[in-house]
Formats: sequence, C-alpha cells, structure tokens
Amino acid sequence: MSEVGTYTVEDGGIGVVAIDHPPVNALGIVTRRAIDAGCRKFADDDAVKAIVLICGGRTFIAGADIAEFDHPPIAPTIHQLFDLIEAIDKPIVAAIHGTALGAGLELALICNYRIAVPSARVGLPEVSLGLLPGAGGTQRLPRIVGVERALELMISGAPVPATKALELGIIDVLAEEGGLREDAVALARTVIGKPAPRVRDRQDMVAPARGHPEIYADFLQKNARAFRGFKAPGNIVKAVEAAAEIEDFDAGMAREAELFAELLASPESAAQRYYFFAERETAKIPDIPRSTPTVAIDTVGVIGGGAMSGGIAMSFLDAGIAVTLVEASREALDRGLAVIREKYQNSAQKGRMTPAQVDRRLALITPALDLAALAEADLIVEAVVEEESAKKEVFARLDAVARPGAILASNTSFLDLDAIASATGRPDRVVGLHFFPPANVMRLVEVVRGARTSAEVVATAMALAKKLGKVPVLSRVCAGFIANRIMGERGRQADRLVLQGLTPHEIDRAIQDFGFAMGPFQMMDLVGLDVPGRGDTERTVAGDLVKADRLGQKRNGGYYDYDDQGAAMPSPVAARIIADVARARGIAAAGQVSSEQIVARLLYPVVNEGAKVLEEHVAIRASDIDVAAILGYNWPVFTGGPMFWADMIGLRKVVDGLAAQDIEPAKLLVDTAARGAAFTR
Ligand code: 3HC
Repeated sequence: MSEVGTYTVEDGGIGVVAIDHPPVNALGIVTRRAIDAGCRKFADDDAVKAIVLICGGRTFIAGADIAEFDHPPIAPTIHQLFDLIEAIDKPIVAAIHGTALGAGLELALICNYRIAVPSARVGLPEVSLGLLPGAGGTQRLPRIVGVERALELMISGAPVPATKALELGIIDVLAEEGGLREDAVALARTVIGKPAPRVRDRQDMVAPARGHPEIYADFLQKNARAFRGFKAPGNIVKAVEAAAEIEDFDAGMAREAELFAELLASPESAAQRYYFFAERETAKIPDIPRSTPTVAIDTVGVIGGGAMSGGIAMSFLDAGIAVTLVEASREALDRGLAVIREKYQNSAQKGRMTPAQVDRRLALITPALDLAALAEADLIVEAVVEEESAKKEVFARLDAVARPGAILASNTSFLDLDAIASATGRPDRVVGLHFFPPANVMRLVEVVRGARTSAEVVATAMALAKKLGKVPVLSRVCAGFIANRIMGERGRQADRLVLQGLTPHEIDRAIQDFGFAMGPFQMMDLVGLDVPGRGDTERTVAGDLVKADRLGQKRNGGYYDYDDQGAAMPSPVAARIIADVARARGIAAAGQVSSEQIVARLLYPVVNEGAKVLEEHVAIRASDIDVAAILGYNWPVFTGGPMFWADMIGLRKVVDGLAAQDIEPAKLLVDTAARGAAFTR
C-alpha cells in the first residue's frame, strides 16, 4: 500500500496496481509515486506474471496534473515513470473506466493491452490547454489510427466513447460495466507468456503517410481560420508528421518533447491553463458553501416566444427538462415553436442528433397562452421585452400564479433585478439567469444575485446552469452585469475612434488580429443597430445609421455595405454619416493610429471596467470576469481574458494607456499597479 496505491496479487500471478487519488486521479507526483512503487514491486516479484493497472473513484487517470506545469518537475517525472513501465518484461493491462485523458490515455498506450467499460471515454485534450500530448501520445496514437485520424482526435481534443475507441483499435476489449477489475484480471491471465504487443514497434499505420507532406499542409490550410492565434495546433501537426517521417521511435519522441517544451513556455498555453482552472473556479462562492441544499428543477416555464426565449427553452430541452413555453398570442407561440422545431431538424439533418432525439425534445414542450399554465413549474424564466415596467408586470402576475417556493428568474441583460423582484412578494426567490444569444449554444450564463436572493436559490441556479452544460458566473446587480458592462467599453471606444477618422474596417481588423472572431462594427452590424438599450444621450453614428434605415446586415447594411453573398464592403454612405456626426460634434481627426494602439484604446478601458466590477464586488474574482468575457464575447482564450491579459502586459502600462486617453483609471487598478501586484495571481 502507499498513500493512494493498493497492490494485490490475484490468482494466477496477476499483480493489480489500483490507484485512488480523488477527484480525477490526475498524474501528479503522488499518483506517479504510487504507480512507480506498484510497478517496481510487481516487476521484481517472480510470482507476478502480468500486471493490471486500474483506478478507483470516478475515473481512470484524467491527465497530467495541470497545476504542476507551473513548477519544476519532481521525479519520477511522467517520462521517467513511463520508461520504467515500458521496460517491464511482463504484460501490462490498462483497465479503463470514466475518462482516460491526456497522460492517462498516454499511459494506457504504453501498456500492452487496454480494456475499458462501454461507458468509458478516451481522448487527448491537451490542445485546449495550449499543449500537445507530451507523453508519447503524438507518436503512439498515429501508429494505431493513422495520421489523419490522429490529427482529428488531437486537434478536436474531444474524447471518444469506448465503443468507438474499440473500432479504432485504441482499446482492445470491452469489459462488462461494473466488472472491469475481474475482466481485466481475466484478460491478463490469458496473455501471460505471449509476446506482448507494443505500440512503439508498429509502422503499418504511419508508413503510408511517409513522404506526403501535403497531408499536413492541407490540414493546416483547411483549418487556418480555427487555428488563428493558437500555437498548439501547429505543433501538434509537426509532431504527428514526425511520427510518420521519423521511423526511429525514440527520435520521434525527442521531437515531441521539443515541440511540447515550446508550447509549455508559450504565453498562449499559460493563458489556456489559467483558463482551465478559472472556468472551474466560478462555481465557488465564498459565502455559499458547496453543501448548500438546492431545489430540484424538473419543470420549467419560459415566457416570451422570441429568439432569446426559444434558445433558453432549447437549453432546458437539451438537458431533458420539460418546458412550458408561454407567449401572449397564438401567432407568436406558433412562430416560436416552429423555430425550435426547425433548429432541431437542422441539427438532425447535419447528423448532430438522431430523429428520435429530436422527437424526445419536442415531446417535452407544452405550449401555452396563459401564465396560469405555469402554476406547477419549479422555475420560471422570463425573457420578455427589455423594459422594466413590462418585466415588473410579468413578475407581479407570476407571483400570483406560481406555486409558493417556485423560483422566478429574469433574463434581463441590463435592468435592475432588485426593482423587478420588488414587484413580487418573494424577492428571496428571484434571481437573474442571463443567457447569451444564441442561448442554446453559448456556454455563459450570468447568475444574477439580487440584494435579497436566498443562498438556496443562488446555489440552485448555479447547479442548474451546470446541468445545462453551461458555465455559471455569479454577478451582483448593476447595469449590464459583467460581460455586457465591461465589453460595452470596447464599443464606446470604437465609436470614439471611428469619429476620429479611423474606418470601421481598420478597427475591426486590429481587433480580429488580436484574436476576436469579429470586430465591434462587424458585430453591431450582425446583431442589428436598432437593438434597444444603448441609451445614447448624444448624436451617434449608430443612431444616424438607424435614422437612415441602415439597420445592419438585416436591412440596407450598417457600418458596412453587403453584397448578395453577404460579404462586407466599405460603405461610402456610412463614411459620410460618420464624417457628418464627427463634424456636428466637433471631433478632430486622430491622425495615424497603429493596430497596437487601436487594441490598447479599445481594450484597456475593458480592463478598467473589469477593475470597477471587482472593486464594487459585482464579480467575486478577476478570473470570473475573464470567463464571462471569453464565453460571452468570444474574447480570445489564448490571451486568458481581459484581466489575465492586463496582468501579462503589466498594469502600470494599462494605467498609463488609459491616462493617454483621458480615461480615469479605477482605484483598484491604480492601487494594484502601484503595489506591483496582479489581478489574477
Ligand atoms: N489536473 C489537475 N486538476 C484537475 C485535472 C487535471 N488534469 N482534471 C481535473 N482537475 C480538477 C479540477 O480542477 C476540479 O477541481 P475543483 O473541484 O477543485 O474545481 C476537479 O478536478 C474536478 O474536475 P471537473 O470539475 O472538471 O470535473 P468533471 O467531472 O466535470 O470533469 C474531467 C472531469 C472530464 C476529467 C475534467 O476535469 C477534465 O477534462 N480534466 C482535464 C483533462 C485534461 O485536460 N487532461 C490533460 C492534461 S495535460 C496532459 O496530460 C499533458 C500530457 O500530455 C503530458
């Protein structure tokens, strides 16, 4: 026994190394020592003829311990451990349940045989940490599945189910669900004395790709858009190419190590590893312990048949939760239902779900025209028009029909939740659930905690968002909450710059080069310039564009003109409107502004607003702000989000940059910079 390892010898001379290191048996130093000790023990024991490596708890090894990457390695390192295992001249069986990911799967690939229960999944998700599989994965997986399939698996990072892994040859045998240990031991008994297969010795699946550099060039070209800004995909491709081109396995491993080290030292990977923990941190609320009881949410009401409420309803349906969809008119209700049906049918056509899955979802919807239909709902989500009076009226009526204890949620994106809650006699049961469009796709949900929202309701909302496959970020009440509030600054500064003579295209291109999929003007044109809530107090370009009936892509173009295929082109009309507004407001041209300066001018104010959000305790922690920006606005994850990015640049520089724009820096930003400290460390 060790702290986390149990070593037993079963009949027939099968040594079982069982590892149990919650929560996910990550291959940190404690786990490595335990495997090392078990393997040495059985390697030296003549009575042991074969070894089974198995894990307890919820999963097989889910990867290297990501937190260790920030520190110097401690022996036995993963490579030392794997070399030890590979040198053992007794067959070794990896017995997999849960998820064998990253170094977990790489360990299994070193073993001679792999057996898994049908519910298990295996994969190499390192790409999402800005890394490549650095413990032999890039060399061994192509030797099993060929280079093309290996590239797909490593670039998507998505785990494959055991049944698929069996088909691909990644695992050798399926075990009975619940009978993994017995089946693995039985398998081990059958292989004693037989030549043990080693993935490293195979050439059959990589040899056909040898001398075909076009495979990699094509792959990179096909995915150029998706890879923009990321370093890991390029290195993964190089490592896989090495698996095919370099026949000598150890030389291929050396190339993998070199490419891995490059990524590990990159700012992109540092940001993505930071993000991994940031995303998991959002669930932790200092004054609401994880043990806080939550309310079961089995039936949900959604009010408002527009695009937003349709997407919200779909989020619940996708999670198998019944929804009563309420609209004010038969026509609006029919339209809302038709859109939901069409979206699901499109997904089925694209092979993303089966017709049976579509039917199951549609069967969970109950359409209704009267709020009385919500009398039994556990949770009601309101997504009507974004006006305080309208929302208050709906909440007062809901309070009358909803059963006592039911939770009333608003999808408001910038209104005062406490004012809305005051229309009810149960402000403790009122919470904000702020989804981002399209709600069934975007993973961010801001859970808005009103002044009187109970701990139980907050805990329920957080847990529910997770159940929907979303990432909940807790926000206090303020105009715009976290993501919209901070990112609103980017739009405001973009407006300022365009009035100083820069074109929408110059600004959008700088922001795209920074890593956003879209610049602010492209985004405004896409969303539509007539969306309510801008609250402009002076003459604006957007206002004048709307007056000219230019509403964006949906009507007559906006900041850009659009051709028949929807491609954006510079718009002479918009340019004239911009010049008119600038003249009317007496705004002088800025002269030459570099891309780097554009980024600073648009994004330092976002950081500044983030600092205010922290200072006001609207967000619990800086990393929550980063998660909100990344998931709500597609802020490029390889920069870590605005607060991490600012820390990387240096807060002093951000303060100076704001001063150069005549923007007053937040006190917290100034103080943190003065202390030489950072937001996210
Ligand atoms: N290292 C360190 N901590 C990890 C971890 C890892 N590889 N994987 C999970 N954890 C931690 C999480 O931070 C979380 O901690 P918390 O409870 O304190 O917040 C806890 O384990 C549970 O994780 P989740 O909340 O994510 O649990 P789920 O059940 O939702 O998901 C999982 C489980 C699918 C295993 C998911 O945690 C996951 O995807 N983990 C990461 C897998 C991964 O990326 N592996 C590759 C690592 S890099 C590598 O192996 C390099 C190698 O090639 C050299």
